[in-house]
Amino acid sequence: MSESISKAVPRHVAIVMDGNGRWAKKRFLPRFFGHKQGVDALVNVIQACIDREIEYLTVFAFSSENWKRSSDEVSGLMGLVLAAVSRYLARIGDMGVRIRIVGDREAVSEKLRNAWNEAETRTQDNKKLTLSVAFNYGGRWDIVQACKAAMQAGVPPEQLTEAKLSEFTAMSYAPDPDLFIRTGGEVRISNFLLWQVAYTEFVFSDCLWPEFGAKQLDAAIEAFRERDRRFGGVKEAPALAGS
Ligand code: FPP
Repeated sequence: MSESISKAVPRHVAIVMDGNGRWAKKRFLPRFFGHKQGVDALVNVIQACIDREIEYLTVFAFSSENWKRSSDEVSGLMGLVLAAVSRYLARIGDMGVRIRIVGDREAVSEKLRNAWNEAETRTQDNKKLTLSVAFNYGGRWDIVQACKAAMQAGVPPEQLTEAKLSEFTAMSYAPDPDLFIRTGGEVRISNFLLWQVAYTEFVFSDCLWPEFGAKQLDAAIEAFRERDRRFGGVKEAPALAGS
């Protein structure tokens, strides 16, 4: 393996932060405490990504389907996100992080929408790492909203290519993820970045999200480095000696 490949760092890492509830349950705590600890884990992972010069980190904070949880848990998560923005925004901003929110903002409260807007505006000139928080997001929602937006923009069907539709997806500003990590032991995508993960490498970890940190991130990056990314092509066979 060449030096450049062995040292390769994924440009874009996407994470499904799963296992907060089980982390809390193991400690006889309400699920909310798991989510709270999950926010701290996220702040650590943001720093670890910056240290490793990863350019884009995208996390699944609330899926379109998470509304099915108890109203207590949903309102707890909304409150937690609001509290996290007021507690960590200045610190994350000082770390050089640009925050972007991806997802349907229509259904969230005005208070949360305003907090998102403030987080995006205050960090818009930061360049070290782009943190995309998928909130009220679903991969299928994204594809449908991209189609609608393309139609509204008057794109004729014969001009609707994959590249053209990508321009209308919620994460059109970022390259597709190189590495997708899911913690918590489940092995599925759960309607995360469906369009964007066509050639992404997947790493599934049994670690519960609140326990995920730099060490586990390095293990995932190591697994990523072992992969042979061909993007649908074939690797050139090594030349035979004497041929
Ligand atoms: C999945 O664990 C986790 C979530 C649905 C929420 C993740 C959200 C955060 C960590 C907060 C993010 C905050 C900001 C400001 C971005 P689970 O509850 O499904 O765990 P379980 O599978 O063990 O029940």
